[in-house]
Amino acid sequence: DAFSGSGVWRYAAALPFDDGVSLPEGATPLYYAPRLENDIGVRTLRIKHEGMNPTGSFKDRGMTVGVRVAQELGVERLVCASTGNTSAALAAYGARAGMETLVLLPAGKVAAGKVAQASLHGARILEVDGNFDDCLDIVRDLADRGEAYLLNSLNPFRLEGQKTIGHEILERHYRDEGRFPDRIVLPVGNAGNTSALYKTFRELVASGALTPEEVPKLTGVQAEGAAPIVEAIESDEPVRRWDEVETKATAIRIGNPVNAPKAVPGIRETNGTAVAVSDREITQAQRDLAGEGIGVEPASAASVAGLRKLRKQDIVQSDEDVVCLTTGHLLKDPDAAAVAGNDPEPVPNDTDAVLAHVSEE
Ligand code: F0G
Repeated sequence: DAFSGSGVWRYAAALPFDDGVSLPEGATPLYYAPRLENDIGVRTLRIKHEGMNPTGSFKDRGMTVGVRVAQELGVERLVCASTGNTSAALAAYGARAGMETLVLLPAGKVAAGKVAQASLHGARILEVDGNFDDCLDIVRDLADRGEAYLLNSLNPFRLEGQKTIGHEILERHYRDEGRFPDRIVLPVGNAGNTSALYKTFRELVASGALTPEEVPKLTGVQAEGAAPIVEAIESDEPVRRWDEVETKATAIRIGNPVNAPKAVPGIRETNGTAVAVSDREITQAQRDLAGEGIGVEPASAASVAGLRKLRKQDIVQSDEDVVCLTTGHLLKDPDAAAVAGNDPEPVPNDTDAVLAHVSEE
């Protein structure tokens, strides 16, 4: 059947339908990262790599549900604003469902792999002279006017699918370690994932599957140049829209996190926190993960960079079981990977010369 193997539809009991438009998604690895675990200094460190989804990011989990709803409603045209990954996922799932898809992208600020995906899967790519938040403003207007069905994380059905990240982490961690993780650290942009995980925890507590004490601390990480949630958590004030945003982690280059009203209570009520990291710290974490064989895009590495920072500040303790969420695949942003990694070395077309070259210092 269409969805066998889907880690999302395995949890259909927690979802509004029994099946959906599936490629299939979910069932992503929860890696060990022993060198990083030792280096950062926590009891256990596991990496939930959402880059291993069909289009290379966690957005697929939301789209399998969201596009199913669009079919149910009989809408003709799908739309999203995106820093790239949402557009790649919507283009693929829209294509799978045979529906027309529009994506609005901030011109010049979307990584190459993501634009390539939206393009080849047949979305119309509308490049806006503005940032992601401007694109989302336009998409909301289009949806309000009934011109297209919105599939950003403002759409609650997207978040229903993304809840299954939480189910998979808890189930697998319990199976491997005999206990649930103390903390889940994740990159935050629009704060959809943070809201989705919080909903998973609330539902599991309400059903009796999880005690309130067992709920992991939700810990959000933003880039220093786009950190309105961190600002709100640190100041205990409402979230303020940042009009100017900048970071090499273009996926989370967001100044107006629309899910903040759902996510900020999740961070506070689980006794989590939020932290901002520099682009340099993000690049280092991307290298650290790559050194364990785990290839992620910059925004994803923010989770590990944030964990390292919070551990140094003793906000995260050495006896904690931590899961870091890595949200997108390395190949999403080949340019960032090339800058962070080794440079190619030109060598002569000759075996002896190649051997001489690699034997050099
Ligand atoms: N990591 C990656 C790789 C992302 O693409 C995004 C969001 C996030 C983290 C943040 O997740 O919004 O749930 O807090 N990308 C969106 C997009 C905005 O358009 O692809 P969030």
